[in-house]
Amino acid sequence: MRGWAILLAVTGFAATGPAMAADDGATIYKRCAACHLANGAGVPGAFPPLKSDVRALAGTPAGRRYLALVVIRGVSGAITVEGKPYRGMMPAQAGLNDAQVAAVLNHVVRGGSAKAFTPREIAGYRAGSAALNSAAVGRLQPAAAGK
Ligand code: HEC
Repeated sequence: MRGWAILLAVTGFAATGPAMAADDGATIYKRCAACHLANGAGVPGAFPPLKSDVRALAGTPAGRRYLALVVIRGVSGAITVEGKPYRGMMPAQAGLNDAQVAAVLNHVVRGGSAKAFTPREIAGYRAGSAALNSAAVGRLQPAAAGK
């Protein structure tokens, strides 16, 4: 049995390759689940849920930019998510390329009605964002959410 498991692992690896596995939204989301939980429900008062508000944000241009910048630059300071206040700090998710940011955001907003994020779209938000720190991204949130 152990031999079969190793054989399957090896052939699976060869078939998909490490790059494809790392570009899969559900796989990338595992790093988010450490705080936002596997089902995106979050932890009240600490880590916001990634549910209805995030899906709504994905439906507006400013909201889409905000979501991309949250992942690329991090977010901190006072924000409101699903009517509840948060004042925490999410570190920038370093090391994700444009395709990976698009994939993880598409995973987070799956089931919503917004169009899919594309790598090209993410590249546009990333360009010129180097001067933004997490607090600056946090200040983008109320307008993005239409509050
Ligand atoms: C170390 C913990 C941590 C990790 C890992 C993390 N986050 Fe966060 N996230 C937070 C915290 C804390 C906030 C709220 C920050 C604040 O209060 O300003 C937040 C806020 C957000 C928001 C803003 C929600 C809104 O409605 O405005 C989004 C979107 C988000 N995270 C997505 C992600 C994604 C996607 C990943 C993985 C790529 C991720 N987070 C990884 C802690 C984390």
